[in-house]
Amino acid sequence: MWNDLPLFPQEASAYAREVDHFFLALLGFSLLFSIGIFSAILYFAIKYRRRSPDDVAAAIKDPKGLEIAWTVLPFLLSIGLLVWGVDLFWQARTPAKDPLEIAVVAKQWMWKVRHASGAREVDSLHIPVGRPVRLTLATEDVIHSFYVPAFRLKQDVVPGRYTTLNFEPDRIGEYHLFCAEYCGTSHSQMKGTVTVMAPSDFERWLHSKAVAETPQAAGRRHFERLGCMSCHGRKSTEHGPALAGLFGRPVRLGDGQTIVADEGYLRESIVEPEKKVVAGFRPLMPPYRGRLNEEQILDLVSYLSSLPEPAP
Ligand code: CUA
Repeated sequence: MWNDLPLFPQEASAYAREVDHFFLALLGFSLLFSIGIFSAILYFAIKYRRRSPDDVAAAIKDPKGLEIAWTVLPFLLSIGLLVWGVDLFWQARTPAKDPLEIAVVAKQWMWKVRHASGAREVDSLHIPVGRPVRLTLATEDVIHSFYVPAFRLKQDVVPGRYTTLNFEPDRIGEYHLFCAEYCGTSHSQMKGTVTVMAPSDFERWLHSKAVAETPQAAGRRHFERLGCMSCHGRKSTEHGPALAGLFGRPVRLGDGQTIVADEGYLRESIVEPEKKVVAGFRPLMPPYRGRLNEEQILDLVSYLSSLPEPAP
């Protein structure tokens, strides 16, 4: 609704419009209360002004009903706004069914994007219109922040963990991508373009990109090169747990906790395997922190999450 008013960036998703409605509601309530409060101050200042030097205020009885009303109503109003805001926050963090999975690795000072097909791009992100997208964000160095104003989305990219963003663009066009967290000398240069294309154009674009290797294939190559198989083989039970079919399933740890084996857990178990040792195993695995870069770890995670459950 604001596309003709340059005060607001373009709205390129239904989510962006919802965020704007939320913003306008907040602005509206702020205005309403500011005007109400300042008018009351002005009105009372005039009406109850001191008229003579020995003027004394009249005693009043507590207006109980009024006090309850001005406490409870704003409370309910703020809780309502909180629920609305939290709902918007979770929308961007809850993946839709069958999203287009894209990995983004931030690095001083660029955005490296890798599609599931293996296609790569730097400082640009091509996506089709009308399809949910799920970004997995990692960083090689410091904190960056992935910010696309047209989607009203901003997510910090934090060292040592994955963060995710979910959105569905519904407007074809080119939009700004910024880094919104000061990350060093060339922070202001760390920007790019998000290109939302018609699905057929996107397919054509994807096929036009030369692909050396899919992330899964690269992950398999790292898995073999690093000799992971010797402990994590199909039937292995001695040194390390078997990994086939592990992704998305609950895992019982040595300390009695149960957690779900998501991307974050797989990543952590490669980089710092001693942190969450699976029940029944000893912490034998060497940490791979510093030996693999984030892209290689993403490859491994994507390979591991693709392994089907072994036939019984
Ligand atoms: Cu990356 Cu600022």
